[in-house]
Amino acid sequence: MHIIKSASILTEYLTNLRSSDKNVTVGFVPTMGALHEGHSSLIDESVRSNSITVCSIFVNPTQFGEENDLVTYPKPIENDIALLIKHKCDVLFLPSVEEVYPDQFEATVFDLDGIDFKIEGASRPGHFQGVCNVIARFLQIINPEIAYFGQKDFQQTVVVKKLVQILQSKTKIAVVPIKREPHGLAQSSRNVRLSKKGRQNAAFIYKAISQVKEDYKSLGLQESVAKAIQFINAQKGAKVDYLLAVDTTTLNEVTNVSDANEVAVLTVVEYEGVRLLDNIIL
Ligand code: PAF
Repeated sequence: MHIIKSASILTEYLTNLRSSDKNVTVGFVPTMGALHEGHSSLIDESVRSNSITVCSIFVNPTQFGEENDLVTYPKPIENDIALLIKHKCDVLFLPSVEEVYPDQFEATVFDLDGIDFKIEGASRPGHFQGVCNVIARFLQIINPEIAYFGQKDFQQTVVVKKLVQILQSKTKIAVVPIKREPHGLAQSSRNVRLSKKGRQNAAFIYKAISQVKEDYKSLGLQESVAKAIQFINAQKGAKVDYLLAVDTTTLNEVTNVSDANEVAVLTVVEYEGVRLLDNIIL
């Protein structure tokens, strides 16, 4: 695996590959490191479908609200490199902040039809604009045929699909299903902050949203959502931040499945002081 730290060298490397073989396709997996099975499933998917897979590890400062969160973000680079090699990633792009945001860089404010202000965006102002700016920059540097994102960050996948439309980019966005721990908890870099027991118990989140999928036809959407919230809040140490059913394109809340072509249930639960995200498509 090549490790490239310079944006211009990466662009040049990919341009040369493309000009030596017109059929080369580049798959891109953006990450912030602390890689786990969720990320490796994105790498596997890219390696399966493309001639070259580029993974970026960059803890993007513009998407963090609190300085503290940024400073404490885990950075286990040796483990990450080993995982990428094991999964046959071809190029690791490991830029510095200055490389991604050079002095002349000017942030863009993208009009995302308000999607960036809702749900996660409501408690993290500016977060999705930060994600859009870094992804726009990566698309400029890498120009991939396909970029891979995990379904776990559902709102992010909707935002990024909107971004490529705005940029009129050729890049296709692939959304890879959530990878789960054996008990059902969605894989996340934050799971290591849970106690061993908590990590097993936290399967109640997936159990609750799966139950919505089972119940909504008989109970109706509103009642099954209310039942899931009640179930989670009844677990010791757990508190629902939000749990709601949304239209998967607009992220508007829906009360009936007939209100949208496709409906997803999105949730964030505070458990043992950790914010755990999960979702399910109905
Ligand atoms: O999902 C993430 O890890 C980040 O938001 C991403 C897509 C790498 C952009 O910094």
